[in-house]
Amino acid sequence: MCGIIGYTGPLQAKDVLLNGLSQLEYRGYDSAGIAFFESGQNVRVVKTTGKVARLKELCSSITEEIHCGIGHTRWATHGGVTVENAHPHQAGRVTLIHNGIIENYHQLTADFHLEGTLISQTDSEVAARVLDQIYDHDPISSIRRLVPLLEGSYGFCILFSDHPGEIYAVRNVSPLVAAYTHSGSLIASDLTALIPYTRKYAVVPENQIVKLTPYRMEFYQMDGTPASPEILEVNWDTDAAMKNGYPHFMLKEIHEQPEALKKTILPRLTKGLPDFGDDGIPDSLFQTCSQIRIVACGTAMHAGMVARAVMEPLLKIPVLVSVASEFRYEDPLVNDQTLTIVISQSGETIDTLAALRLAKELGSKVLSVVNVKGSTIARESDYVLYTHAGPEIAVASTKAYSVQLAALYMITCRMACVRGKMTDQEAASFMEDLLDVIPAMEEMLDQAETIKTIVRPLIDKPDAFFIGRNLDYAFSLEGALKLKEISYIHADAYAAGELKHGTIALIADQVPVIALATQDRIFSKMISNVREVKARGAYVILITKKEADVDPELADVRIRIPDLHDRFTVFPIAVVLQLIAYYASLLKGLDVDQPRNLAKSVTVE
Ligand code: G6P
Repeated sequence: MCGIIGYTGPLQAKDVLLNGLSQLEYRGYDSAGIAFFESGQNVRVVKTTGKVARLKELCSSITEEIHCGIGHTRWATHGGVTVENAHPHQAGRVTLIHNGIIENYHQLTADFHLEGTLISQTDSEVAARVLDQIYDHDPISSIRRLVPLLEGSYGFCILFSDHPGEIYAVRNVSPLVAAYTHSGSLIASDLTALIPYTRKYAVVPENQIVKLTPYRMEFYQMDGTPASPEILEVNWDTDAAMKNGYPHFMLKEIHEQPEALKKTILPRLTKGLPDFGDDGIPDSLFQTCSQIRIVACGTAMHAGMVARAVMEPLLKIPVLVSVASEFRYEDPLVNDQTLTIVISQSGETIDTLAALRLAKELGSKVLSVVNVKGSTIARESDYVLYTHAGPEIAVASTKAYSVQLAALYMITCRMACVRGKMTDQEAASFMEDLLDVIPAMEEMLDQAETIKTIVRPLIDKPDAFFIGRNLDYAFSLEGALKLKEISYIHADAYAAGELKHGTIALIADQVPVIALATQDRIFSKMISNVREVKARGAYVILITKKEADVDPELADVRIRIPDLHDRFTVFPIAVVLQLIAYYASLLKGLDVDQPRNLAKSVTVE
């Protein structure tokens, strides 16, 4: 979604802004622009559709010293991909960039008689024009009067032409982080744009106004009184957000999984058992609840689906998974006996945040599994279990998925102990099995080149089907998502037993079916389903444990994963499915890290 960067200080602002936009490219976007104080009170805007590289070309003739400006990558919501709709938007003395959606833009257009004055089709320009109309030469008081007029989500960075050298910002829901350094002040939609300059930053609190000057950053409450931000420190270094020799972030992040798992699991083991003492998560949280609701989006939701299949049989309480964007409309049966587990890599996904807020309103305690420290979801949850994947830059989530799973498995184990469903000995053996997945993932990473060869026949096929039963079905969901989002091959996952009720009609000669058969107790049933698709001509890629005995005629290709306990096969399988998607995208010559239409952090509903 839209990326935001602002800078004021002694450095060449053009470079800071354009480099910042490059760092934010991974969020997903379709146009880009910058605005800066040119001379005196003149604010100049340069914007274009397409990539940041095109914007850089347009800016190459700018040679003068620039010391204050804002930059934006736009992911279209209101209005198509045009130069007019690209940000920044200018209205009189106001120039602004915006991430989010102003829902009442129609009403504002009428109330402020903007009909006929708008150049773009965006809600953001409406906000700029309203702000210009109410502007009284005092930015803080004008923003204070703007905020109550707006409905929706927003992160705004604003230049006022009569306040050169100053950047103002305000947000509701959409994230903003700000930093003051010896080389000036910066603001951005996320940390990756700030880390080349500083490790210390502040999360801009909702409904506070920030004023950045080259010498300081000031925060104000909505009543105009000054506020002091909490200064946080980034727990990863600049290298973590670089490709470090890999051709794509996705491949690098796939390879980082064993390390990320170690960082997430090992510090939380005491005598071989999960211990959340340092995370401040009390056992009482796990003791009394009578049901668990898991809420998340995308890959994080798929991690939740796997966790559900592991948790419910072990804990013997209902565990339900909801897509966050649906949760609010399900009238969920949530109360003070419910433990809600929210999963989010970014900690900023707006639907997940809205679901969290509803769960709290309904009396549930919320435990979140989040990767980004200090993110909104982390701050608003009752308890947080941070995953330690480091920054995930590729739009397609990989390492975040496996560390989310590791965290959820640890929660399951702790909860089972606390509720008397596992002895300490059983829990220690569960954790040993969890640690065994690390070498198992490494073993599959070593087979990357083989998997590349296996993928070649898939790349000119329009469709692919992933099938599995029980846990294998939950893994299939993520495999299909990965493949479709970066290779644009239409891919779907089906519970293998359900195929006969419709989908098998789509299986014809050479249609790829990726069949997962790693669950011992339902292995033979799954193999029967594979026979059914093979009999109809499918091109079968069969994934089993090494020890599995399978008729060689059944599969065109066989991938063998290490012989782990059924519950844990997801980890090596995740590596295999991620590599299948990666190589399909690569061999098709697509943009692996920034697939079309997608955004890394979805901050609009
Ligand atoms: C987007 C990303 C996915 C991610 C989902 C949820 O769709 O492209 O990779 O799984 O959002 O994001 P979150 O940050 O909440 O885990």
